[in-house]
Amino acid sequence: MGEGWTPLLPIGNNVYVKDETVNPTGSFKDRGMAMAVTLAKAQNVEKICLPSAGNAGVSASAYCQAAGIDCFVFLPETIPEPFKNETKRYKSELVLSGQTISEAAQAMINQKDEDWFDISTLKEPFRVEGKKTLGYEIAEQLGWSLPDVIIYPTGGGTGLIGMWKAFKEMLGMGWISGPLPRMVVAQSDGCAPVVEAFQNHQDATSFWHKSNTIALGLNVPGPLGGYWILEILSESNGIAVTAQETSLEINTENFRKRIGIDASTEIGVVWSAYEELTEKKWITPGEKVVLFATGIERR
Ligand SMILES: Cc1ncc(COP(=O)(O)O)c(C=O)c1O
Repeated sequence: MGEGWTPLLPIGNNVYVKDETVNPTGSFKDRGMAMAVTLAKAQNVEKICLPSAGNAGVSASAYCQAAGIDCFVFLPETIPEPFKNETKRYKSELVLSGQTISEAAQAMINQKDEDWFDISTLKEPFRVEGKKTLGYEIAEQLGWSLPDVIIYPTGGGTGLIGMWKAFKEMLGMGWISGPLPRMVVAQSDGCAPVVEAFQNHQDATSFWHKSNTIALGLNVPGPLGGYWILEILSESNGIAVTAQETSLEINTENFRKRIGIDASTEIGVVWSAYEELTEKKWITPGEKVVLFATGIERR
């Protein structure tokens, strides 16, 4: 449907923004859904289900409609209207349950029929394969070199896992040479299971109770791939940092005004992480940095 090959915008000081808002349904989720739905179709799947924090549901609905597959989307009851409207526009069945994607996922497990194919994050292999294109594009757009640092707003972590897989495979094939980027997980302090595990030197995340963030894509209290995300941080000499939930709106607004992309609040988390890491000199002047604007603001 025209997903991918999104701009890598230079914004000064060797810093770039990967603008994923221009994907067909407004977020980077389209890269994974294009692959997952296409491969499901090739295996004659007729019904697909998934829980979502919002954008994945919109994306899956669009691709399922294009593929002629019935789609069942489980969303938290707290989901804002624009996400519901967008999902319904593509004729999916909507079920609202619980406060977060974790509770919506539980409702899906309880209600799903046997012939529904589950494309939840990391429950099938192809969403991650689709997200690898993020890694390919960054390399190609930087002349087959890689940045020093990538800052990624992390919920379930598929994008981070996909990119890292792409980098390692490209390295193995000799398309690029190392070193690989230091990967940064950015989360809100209202839901930061990866940051907590990273700071406590744990190799898996613990469930984050009473999560609360306006960066809806990051409201993932129990990421299934927590172990992999932490492994990538360790392998890449990366870091996990929180942004203050109370400053999120203002940080997002600052980014929008300065860069001119109508990105959703996840960018406020990324922007705050960038500012903190440059201030602390974890990122040094002149280092090449890629920031992720993962989705558009839905109004
Ligand atoms: C806009 C946005 N950014 C980031 C994320 C988190 O993505 P991931 O699950 O790859 O960590 C999501 C997931 O819903 C999202 O919608």
